[in-house]
Amino acid sequence: MIAIEQQDSGFHRYWVAYCLRKGIPFKRVDCYRSDIVEQLRGCDALMWHFSHQDYRDMLFARQLILSLAAGGMKVFPDPATSWHFDDKVGQKYLLEAVGAPLVPTWLFYTEREALAWSDATRFPKVFKLRGGSGASNVMLARTRSEARRLIRRAFGRGFSPRRAWADLKERWRKYRLGKTGAADLLKGFGRLLLPSDFDRLHPREKGYAYFQEFIPGNTFDVRVVVVGNRACALRRNVRRNDFRASGSGEIVYDRAAIDPRCVEEAFRINRRLGAQCLAYDFVFDTQNRPLIVEISYGFTAPAYEKCDGYWLGDMTWHAGSPALCDWMIEDLLDTLQNRREASENDNVPKPETRPI
Ligand SMILES: Nc1ncnc2c1ncn2[C@@H]1O[C@H](COP(=O)(O)OP(=O)(O)O)[C@@H](O)[C@H]1O
Ligand SMILES: [Mg+2]
Repeated sequence: MIAIEQQDSGFHRYWVAYCLRKGIPFKRVDCYRSDIVEQLRGCDALMWHFSHQDYRDMLFARQLILSLAAGGMKVFPDPATSWHFDDKVGQKYLLEAVGAPLVPTWLFYTEREALAWSDATRFPKVFKLRGGSGASNVMLARTRSEARRLIRRAFGRGFSPRRAWADLKERWRKYRLGKTGAADLLKGFGRLLLPSDFDRLHPREKGYAYFQEFIPGNTFDVRVVVVGNRACALRRNVRRNDFRASGSGEIVYDRAAIDPRCVEEAFRINRRLGAQCLAYDFVFDTQNRPLIVEISYGFTAPAYEKCDGYWLGDMTWHAGSPALCDWMIEDLLDTLQNRREASENDNVPKPETRPI
């Protein structure tokens, strides 16, 4: 029996629809209750699309997943897929360690070292917080003095998760482009007046400074999503007068717009990481080589339904809408089946072996 977290957001509703369609027994569980381990008794697997936008998830989702995995339960996302989620600090070390083409990245844990580096390096550089999405925590340090200001803040009062003004401005931009409705805009105003739980309860970011080489001249980024042995990709155009693509809402779904090297690289790294599912964001350096800016197991699933096909691990192309969430659950069911067969084989009495 597989357990699916009780929310209807994100991947959950796709997983539930899949089980209902295929007649697969499942149980809804509430990960936020203290007795979650008890709720899972008798289940073989848990599927939970935990989110970086819920302060509770960021407090304990990965701890729960690691604990369940230690107890022998299969989990989506599993530890290899999720320990670095919404954590660009972790991703820097991980991608360097496996030899992935990460944009050159620097991390400092004291103000003194960060300032010394900024005195000796060239600008612009990109400054990021470890978490966040839609480019909301990605800034350009155009000059040394801008970098110094960011560093002082990183080791001073830090950065508030409450970015209500920036959030409203972004909603207004999307509204003007016809990419979102009035209700969404109104929600932005609401958030200005009434801080969300995340605004109030997610800790401030401080005590580290994360910089990346600024890779100039990109008018889009390429996002490849790998689920097991399949991948789909799209291109996101950069906002006007900006360098950031993520969250722009300006998506190009043309297979011809995707550099296949990005897909090959994503497959290669994904195999190396042993991840169930990861999105890889690429930009291109001045020699047109793809470089990774970040990875993430979570994404907005409906955005990928418009892709007109997907690749298999051997780079063969298959037409049709990618069913990313279905693939997640199919892979998990396969793993459970393999485990069952392996343990049945273990139970088959072995032919007696005689010493020769
Ligand atoms: N080092 C970089 N050089 C140039 N552009 C970058 C760099 N890092 C990120 N970007 C741009 O900014 C966007 C957001 O950055 P990313 O690290 O993916 O953050 P987020 O988690 O908010 O998506 C990317 O989609 C890319 O267009
Ligand atoms: Mg991104």
